[in-house]
Amino acid sequence: MSNGLEDVIAAETVLSDVDGLAGRLVIRGVPLEALAGRTTYEEALFLLWDGFFDDLPGPKELAARLGAARAKAFATVTDTAGLEPYDAMRALIARQPDGNDLDTALALAAAPAVFLPAVLRRRDGLAAIAPDPSLPHSTDILRMLTGKLPTAEKAAALDTYLVTISDHGLNASTFAARVVASTRAGLMSSVLAALGALKGPLHGGAPGPVLDMLDAIGTPQNAASWIESTLASGERLMGFGHRIYRARDPRADALAAALERLKSTGNVDATRTALAIAVESTALAALKRHKPDRPLLTNVEFYTALLLEALGFPRETFTAVFAIGRTTGWIAHAREQALTGKLIRPKSVYVGPVPRQAA
Ligand code: ACO
Repeated sequence: MSNGLEDVIAAETVLSDVDGLAGRLVIRGVPLEALAGRTTYEEALFLLWDGFFDDLPGPKELAARLGAARAKAFATVTDTAGLEPYDAMRALIARQPDGNDLDTALALAAAPAVFLPAVLRRRDGLAAIAPDPSLPHSTDILRMLTGKLPTAEKAAALDTYLVTISDHGLNASTFAARVVASTRAGLMSSVLAALGALKGPLHGGAPGPVLDMLDAIGTPQNAASWIESTLASGERLMGFGHRIYRARDPRADALAAALERLKSTGNVDATRTALAIAVESTALAALKRHKPDRPLLTNVEFYTALLLEALGFPRETFTAVFAIGRTTGWIAHAREQALTGKLIRPKSVYVGPVPRQAA
């Protein structure tokens, strides 16, 4: 029995390979560093879905159909007042079709990208902005969020983020998607299960608290004393450590590079990044002293927080933005699992009371 299924191999996949010791992530045969910053969201979508839909068109037509799917999704936006953005987005996704075909997959890829900006604008008393199907996905997301066309650098940074987090082995939400797909339920049911798993603080909920930590530290001069007293009181530093990586999380490097590119084009608050860089180096040194035998290095969430903040997403929506990127991987895994034709049904060991013997 393995509580948490650690080290249990539960699927064969052609989608991504996470090497925690080497700090390496490969997506469909391509190392992350060759994808991030060089690939659009649409190209990554094609890469991950290739082979899982008989009628998958080439990247150009796929991009056009994704644009059309965004427009279609917008027509289904309804009132979600009273719900938090993540729950509102999920409630709207639950009304999408539940097939296993390419149109359903495209509807589900488009849905969070359209619903999150719409929900946020309505929450803030603004009108939701309709998608422009002719625009690239990332450009359109930022336009629907802010009401104006983003700079090319910002759109490229969002592409880098969405591609970087598009797939990552058999993490909790991806496993949840595969379990549901193995029952021959539709893709929407798989995505809903994955969204439920992602919401938990042990999975998708860390980047917001990274910003809370930076706010609490305030200035680079305060970093050392804040970090020491946090560690001394037994608390954890957000954005550091990982279950699988014992080397630096390669996604942190990909996102740090994207942030650096944004900074060099004047798209980032320089004071914020200076603080973050000081906090990161101080934290890494302190963690090394604090836990000399356990490599505790920067994880994906540290730079996710900085990048998404620079792109204008409020911190309480970071998990939902993650879902925009990861839906691509969830759908590919759901199709891969369904194509095995095998139901996922592990066993449990009964440790409850034994029935009394009849007298
Ligand atoms: N700060 C301080 N100490 C830490 C940290 C941290 N960020 N991470 C781990 N440690 C310490 C633990 O206190 C523990 O010490 P102990 O043995 O004295 O109890 C030891 O290192 C091992 O920690 P575990 O919880 O056993 O390691 P695990 O691999 O289960 O934890 C996790 C991984 C949950 C990510 C952890 O490193 C953590 O809580 N980090 C902070 C939150 C965070 O950034 N989460 C996002 C992760 S990225 C992602 O999931 C997409």
